[in-house]
Amino acid sequence: MPSSLLRKDSLHVAAIMDGNGRWARARGLPRREGHRAGIEALRRIVKAAPDAGISTLTVHAFSAANWNRPAEEVADLLKLFEQYLDSETETLVADGVRLSFIGRRDRLPANLVAEMERAEAVTEWGDVLSLRVALDYSAREAIIAAVKNGVPPGPDVDLLIRTSGEQRLSDFLLWECAYAELYFAAKNWPDFDAGDLAAALAAFHARERRFGALPQAAE
Ligand code: FPP
Repeated sequence: MPSSLLRKDSLHVAAIMDGNGRWARARGLPRREGHRAGIEALRRIVKAAPDAGISTLTVHAFSAANWNRPAEEVADLLKLFEQYLDSETETLVADGVRLSFIGRRDRLPANLVAEMERAEAVTEWGDVLSLRVALDYSAREAIIAAVKNGVPPGPDVDLLIRTSGEQRLSDFLLWECAYAELYFAAKNWPDFDAGDLAAALAAFHARERRFGALPQAAE
């Protein structure tokens, strides 16, 4: 089959937005400012995603293990998520972005859950990009829940990007990444921009995905 037929331009890209804390520390700023800058990076990437051939973007915002961080940082993060929803929902609607959340909701503050549900309802008709935000998320828990319910956990990921030089999956989309290409960027997440996204996608398109079959030349 010609490779052009194998090329899929409605990609599911997942991102582990790592390095906010180090970005802040390098500037003598509180970690909160790193997360704030992380939100700006997310805005840039969401804007750039559709033209880059991405139809689904799943980002890791808060893992089930992140409850182990100091209470002040957890509170800062939860407040930032709420502010993001408050300030961003209108733009998401205008840009055709459908926002949804994966992960547990029962441990999150009720007002945040209400904002999440409102944002999901308001953006429901977005058909340019599906933005999925993982909040209080654990892939292991999601797999167990999916098995109990008899449904697969979620759509396959084509490309997983992790920033800040870390090379781990950290309990993120373990099932969905079964055949994902992995891309590790050295930059911290707040510095990641549309050019870096384009570089990640260029690397992705240069790879041969075999899904367990033989290389094309051997067929
Ligand atoms: C990892 O950096 C980042 C997080 C735990 C939070 C990610 C959240 C954002 C980027 C905010 C935007 C999200 C939404 C949905 C509004 P780290 O704190 O582990 O950094 P470090 O490893 O350098 O300490």
